[in-house]
Amino acid sequence: MWSTRGIRAWEEGWWMMATSVGDMIGKIIGAGEGEVVMHPNVSVCQSIIASCLNFKGERNKIVTESLNFPSNLYIYHSLEREGARVITVPSEDGITVPLEKLLDAIDEQTLLVSVSHVIFRSSFIQDLHAITRRAHEVGALVVADIYQSAGTVPLNIREIGLDFATGGSVKWLCGGPGAGYLYVKRELWSKLEPRLTGWLAHEDPFAFEMGPNKYADNIYRFLNGTPCVPAMYAAKSGYEIVNEIGVEKIRAKSIKQTSRLIEVVEESGFKINCPRKVEERGGTVVIDVPHGQQVTTELLRRDFLCDFRPGAGIRVAPHFYTKDEELELIVREIKTILETKAYEQHSAALAH
Ligand SMILES: Cc1ncc(COP(=O)(O)O)c(C=O)c1O
Repeated sequence: MWSTRGIRAWEEGWWMMATSVGDMIGKIIGAGEGEVVMHPNVSVCQSIIASCLNFKGERNKIVTESLNFPSNLYIYHSLEREGARVITVPSEDGITVPLEKLLDAIDEQTLLVSVSHVIFRSSFIQDLHAITRRAHEVGALVVADIYQSAGTVPLNIREIGLDFATGGSVKWLCGGPGAGYLYVKRELWSKLEPRLTGWLAHEDPFAFEMGPNKYADNIYRFLNGTPCVPAMYAAKSGYEIVNEIGVEKIRAKSIKQTSRLIEVVEESGFKINCPRKVEERGGTVVIDVPHGQQVTTELLRRDFLCDFRPGAGIRVAPHFYTKDEELELIVREIKTILETKAYEQHSAALAH
């Protein structure tokens, strides 16, 4: 497009891609048309949400959890400079977040409740219905980071009633980096004016008006500068595939494979650092083994695609394309690496 259409490509689709691509994600997560806008990443989306809110009044609490994604926590703590009070509900076991304690922390002084639908470290699924119900009872807004659930755990954000949702495409959506997304409940649009803004959030960007922003009356009011067009092109194919298969089917296969994987892991004598109950577990199984980081480096060297999170373990994430036999293969490989001490070369590298 760039080489054949040049500047005309903008009019022929590129300007609209922030929402036309967003709509493809909307179908996966239960948002309506024109309710999802594309951004480079979650950190930007969360910052945009934060910039809509005023923490100088009595209602200035942000209730969140210690297992939320670090970017989100960094952003909320930076808002303490603006008067925000950050209440972080701790996890007692490093895997789950105690729902009752989270609900109790939400009160009339709470402006924003921020949770991850599925915890990135432990794969724990949170009860977004209960959290949203409680937040709305006391007049608070809710943002869910759905990065670790969208595309593998069915969800319908409009039915839950979420006010905001953020996510990205590097995981289950198979879309790659640079394709984050932001959902904002339609009913809130007219009340929110993000301070993190730019010319594309203006009602008539090509008028190039000087002075304060006159916000667009659609989801574009949450955009800022030129969108990441190449990243959106790359990401589209992933959304098409996930939409074609359907998240319900992906989830059914995922439950079967993660349950089998847990059996194999436990038969091998390794510990699981994720929930055992199917209804509490997302698509990832977290395996806690000695020298986990070095073992992961060796697994990657041997073409087993997984990753490691400190304090959690090796994250193994079967998706729609994963074959059953791969589950046995990775656990067998972990065993071999440990038995042969093949991880030691990486320990030495780390020590240097
Ligand atoms: C729950 C969650 N939020 C956010 C991110 C990434 O944030 P960003 O898109 O800002 O890089 C990740 C990625 O690992 C994640 O798991």
